[in-house]
Amino acid sequence: MPPFSSSATILAIETSCDETAVAIVQGRQVLSSIVTSQIDIHRRYGGVVPEVASREHVQAVGGAIAQALTAANLSWNSIDAIAATCAPGLVGALMVGLSAAKTLAVVHHKPFLGIHHLEGHIYASYLSEPTLAPPFLCLLVSGGHTSFVHVRGPGDYAILGKTRDDAAGEAFDKVARLLDLGYPGGPVIDRLAQQGNPQTFPLPEGKISLPEGGFHPYDASFSGLKTAVLRLTEKLRTQGELPVADIAASFQATVVRALVKRAIACAQDYKLTTIVVGGGVAANSTLREQLQLAAKAHDLNVIFPPMKYCTDNAAMIACAAVDQFENGARSPLTLGAQSKLSLTDIASLYQ
Ligand SMILES: Nc1ncnc2c1ncn2[C@@H]1O[C@H](COP(=O)(O)OP(=O)(O)OP(=O)(O)O)[C@@H](O)[C@H]1O
Ligand SMILES: [Mg+2]
Repeated sequence: MPPFSSSATILAIETSCDETAVAIVQGRQVLSSIVTSQIDIHRRYGGVVPEVASREHVQAVGGAIAQALTAANLSWNSIDAIAATCAPGLVGALMVGLSAAKTLAVVHHKPFLGIHHLEGHIYASYLSEPTLAPPFLCLLVSGGHTSFVHVRGPGDYAILGKTRDDAAGEAFDKVARLLDLGYPGGPVIDRLAQQGNPQTFPLPEGKISLPEGGFHPYDASFSGLKTAVLRLTEKLRTQGELPVADIAASFQATVVRALVKRAIACAQDYKLTTIVVGGGVAANSTLREQLQLAAKAHDLNVIFPPMKYCTDNAAMIACAAVDQFENGARSPLTLGAQSKLSLTDIASLYQ
């Protein structure tokens, strides 16, 4: 496939969870990216409260749109289309960005596109590697999803493997909560783990048994690991002060081992020479280090998104929208928000 050469300019809105984000992207170039995080509000509750998230999005979205245009120094005339994340995510939260995007599309006579949030996470790496082109393997590791995706072409995805229970980011958040480290858990476990020894506590790597014997080569499980950390923590608490850094390092090493092993197996089995990582856990320093090492040993390329585009942002949504727009995709104004939608059903978003 030839290198990407589009110059469509798209304004995208992302409100699927607890970040109100608006960005303007031209081709693969970010002209502005505004992210207003609600983390400080949700931290009090130890996780995202959906009703609170929706209300915060309503308050923030108008200002974020104005800021994105000002920062890019553009008027509506320069925008080719307006996009918003429409699935998957919190329905009430998604509806805020979606309604704003549809309204702007009508008022300014622009095409409208609904974008799949996970397609956005896949596209985050295009922002640092503009010539990236399918086919490749995407290791999608976010707060709500963990999948090994065969990206066969723009908008053409096959799920090779996935978690059967908790997502990798969710496991970081739950383990952080049981260690009293607060929310979100990933960054704080990552930081603490640097001072710990990952070999202190051997922890079980979840495996999925197959009826015919053996284990599923790509599917993963993280809920057993979380329970093992809980039991370990209960035992250690009775013995004195908790060795939090060693627990964090041991837990993180186990998650990373499970992800790296499966990503390499998928890439080799499907003869894919590039592994692209997406989602909040792509920010993890041990995952970055270990996947780079393993990829080098197997003669594979690995691409991580820029740190600021790992967690939720609208630049990745706009970047995905550029390809969809160039391919002629347009969404009807009747498009609704959906809490769940597989990446393989993305065509249902377009006319
Ligand atoms: N350095 C890090 N190490 C590990 N995990 C991290 C790190 N930084 C962020 N995370 C995790 O990333 C997750 C947030 O990522 P993201 O914004 O992609 O998730 P989400 O949007 O909530 O979920 P989804 O994209 O599946 O809807 C959280 O679970 C957080 O703990
Ligand atoms: Mg996300």
